[in-house]
Amino acid sequence: VPRDTVVSLDGVLQPPDAAPASRHPERREADVRRTLDATVFDPAAFRRAATRVVSRLEAYLRDCSTRGVALTSPAALLEAARNLMSTEDAAGSLDERRLDAIIDLYIRTGIQVHSPGFMGRQFSGVMPLAAVVDLISSTVNQPSSFYEAAQLPNVAERIMAEELNRFVGWEPGRFAMVTTSGASLANLTAMLAARHSQFPDVWTRGLAAAGGDARPAIAIGDDAHYSVCRAAGILGIGEEQIVRLPMNRRRQIRVDCVRPVLRAAAERGLRVFCLVASAGTTSVGAFDPLEELAAVAAEEDVWLHVDAAHGASLLVSDSLRHRLRGIDRADSFSWDAHKMMFVPAMCTLLFYRCKEKSYGAFRQDASYVFDKEPDAYTEFESATQSFECTKRPMIMSLWVLWALYGRSVFARKIEYLCRLAGDARRILDGERDFEAVHEPEANILCFRYLPSNLARRVVPDFQVRVRNGVRRAGRFFISKVDIDGEAALRVVFMNHRTDTGHFRMLLDEIRRAGQAVLAEEDVHA
Ligand SMILES: Cc1ncc(COP(=O)(O)O)c(C=O)c1O
Repeated sequence: VPRDTVVSLDGVLQPPDAAPASRHPERREADVRRTLDATVFDPAAFRRAATRVVSRLEAYLRDCSTRGVALTSPAALLEAARNLMSTEDAAGSLDERRLDAIIDLYIRTGIQVHSPGFMGRQFSGVMPLAAVVDLISSTVNQPSSFYEAAQLPNVAERIMAEELNRFVGWEPGRFAMVTTSGASLANLTAMLAARHSQFPDVWTRGLAAAGGDARPAIAIGDDAHYSVCRAAGILGIGEEQIVRLPMNRRRQIRVDCVRPVLRAAAERGLRVFCLVASAGTTSVGAFDPLEELAAVAAEEDVWLHVDAAHGASLLVSDSLRHRLRGIDRADSFSWDAHKMMFVPAMCTLLFYRCKEKSYGAFRQDASYVFDKEPDAYTEFESATQSFECTKRPMIMSLWVLWALYGRSVFARKIEYLCRLAGDARRILDGERDFEAVHEPEANILCFRYLPSNLARRVVPDFQVRVRNGVRRAGRFFISKVDIDGEAALRVVFMNHRTDTGHFRMLLDEIRRAGQAVLAEEDVHA
């Protein structure tokens, strides 16, 4: 690879020993093309770079040590990253040592998702083959909203919709599945479709067309993910029109309260068009009683959307599927495969029970992409149903894993992680200085560290400071969440390398961090 290709003042890339830029525009253009092909676009350079990257990633994947995140200050990282940048006159030549250094910095500064110490968030240590598929996707670059641009991804979407529907049970051909860039967008899209189904004129005439004096509203459980309220904001519903449904001790929506709350909302002049349930919640992984909520929603003529971003993956397990009993009666639900299906972010599936209604979210003409007459190809594409125009062919990693490994590898991993949460809960029972906040229904467990020497004083934000202490120590990565207005430590088991031994080690780490906070308080007292 020419090392010292340069950019001349007129911006033309020149190979190192090329004659000075030709006065003939045609020859100059040819030089540019030849140089690009010999440098940035050189297939052999691509293979060399990919080989270097893969061998470093192999070492990374082999490392089973217990690590969380090495948090670097943004200023230091900015400097380190800037120092790795070539000067402009590198112009397409590849400095492989610089590439190595960038990979190392990227890996080193991330949350170590493949380590057993990673217990903090819902994204996962991916099945590595998925990353290989992502490499193909990035190379062949087939955005998936349109069939002509991404034929196999569109067919794979159809196959995965049918495969996963085996666990839902909808009539083939009558339901729809659309991929979206994240569950936040899936929730927004479903709520748009719900709004259209109740207020079909709003898309054209605006919110003023929504139901005379009745104001459009949604009903949610208190633990709904923030993306739901954000979507309500985008839809122009307004926070005052978000109706809160009371929760039970397990942090599920109380079905017995739904009817009275909807009636009270109607008396306040609200028209609740969508009830958003969760399966499971972000905070504790609780599953709302979908069957019962679906019955109320149908009776009240309200669209039931289930935010199953986290928990839908339990559908693929024979022993855990029952947690989502009733999902077949929902109008729509979102499913993040980049959570418990262990593929890289983003990969979200939005399912609709009724295919026609999936076209209600967006209603537009755009002659440069949409044809007036649908044909055999457009029938397969999602452009009219999803927000994105250019969209990652996100289904490919999921489909390839599913096609090559089959269902059981997903089911086994999910079952292991949920079992581990139950085992960890039982371990807490035996520890006097810890208190569990709930019974885990999935792979999320929240608890508090309450040592006896804490009881004697008030330490503001104690759990949060403990969590930050654990993070600082760098061996474990956990998160925190407010439950009933009070912070708790939150563990999300996403990694089959984590076992109960690691959980016990985590408890010791929490004790160390907690005692350090208390000692610090003493110093300041
Ligand atoms: C229940 C729930 N809904 C929605 C989301 C948002 O998903 P995404 O990050 O894919 O937009 C999350 C993310 O954690 C979640 O837990």
